[in-house]
Amino acid sequence: MLTQQELIDLATDFGLPPDSYFSEWEPLAKWQRAALDLRGGVRDRTILDVGCGAARLGSVIFEELGSGLYIGVDPIDEYIALAHVIAERLGAADRMRLAVSADFAFPAEPASVDVAMAQSVFTHMTDDAMIDCLERLRPVMKPGAPFVFSYIADKRQRARGSLYLRKYPFIRRRPASESLYTEWAARYGLRFEVHTDPPHPTGQKVGSITF
Ligand SMILES: C[S@@+](CC[C@H](N)C(=O)[O-])C[C@H]1O[C@@H](n2cnc3c(N)ncnc32)[C@H](O)[C@@H]1O
Repeated sequence: MLTQQELIDLATDFGLPPDSYFSEWEPLAKWQRAALDLRGGVRDRTILDVGCGAARLGSVIFEELGSGLYIGVDPIDEYIALAHVIAERLGAADRMRLAVSADFAFPAEPASVDVAMAQSVFTHMTDDAMIDCLERLRPVMKPGAPFVFSYIADKRQRARGSLYLRKYPFIRRRPASESLYTEWAARYGLRFEVHTDPPHPTGQKVGSITF
């Protein structure tokens, strides 16, 4: 795992503010790790990280992937550029496939993904974008593979616009209705479930859809 100072130095090298994304790196990395452990772990598996940021998840699982693969996709060029440097620095580049995409063009072979995760990503998305993401996941997920995602279901949380990294227009704290997930899953005979274990460090809700 990279130290806090290394992360801050790398962030500033890329002109990224060393904000809470970097200062809260470790607790969220531990949660991501624990959430995957509950779903069969990572060894020899293909893990897809939707909205991977700077590949926090990849940086904590790469040593245990064995013959597996970490795939990270994010629309922000700077995060993916930084993720490449992190992968090189950790000696993990051969186990990490990284791509920039804003429309869920996942660089994964059909029916190849064992587990997908979107940590603090649906919290930035419109309903249409979430549906789009789920539709684009369908062909790449193995039958029975879970997609684990965090979301905000508290309607008192007000969605706000923000200029993410002072550059990208984003939604912040976007509450989502669980019926969206239930109804989408039901359309394909799939299952949506809510999980309380492990509890999310920021209090977000966590759900999964099993493909
Ligand atoms: C709070 S960060 C979390 C990053 C990463 N999941 C992690 O835990 O390290 C939110 C991420 O959502 C990504 N994001 C926002 N809209 C997206 C979209 N349409 N497709 C994929 N990622 C998106 C952002 O680029 C950003 O990297």
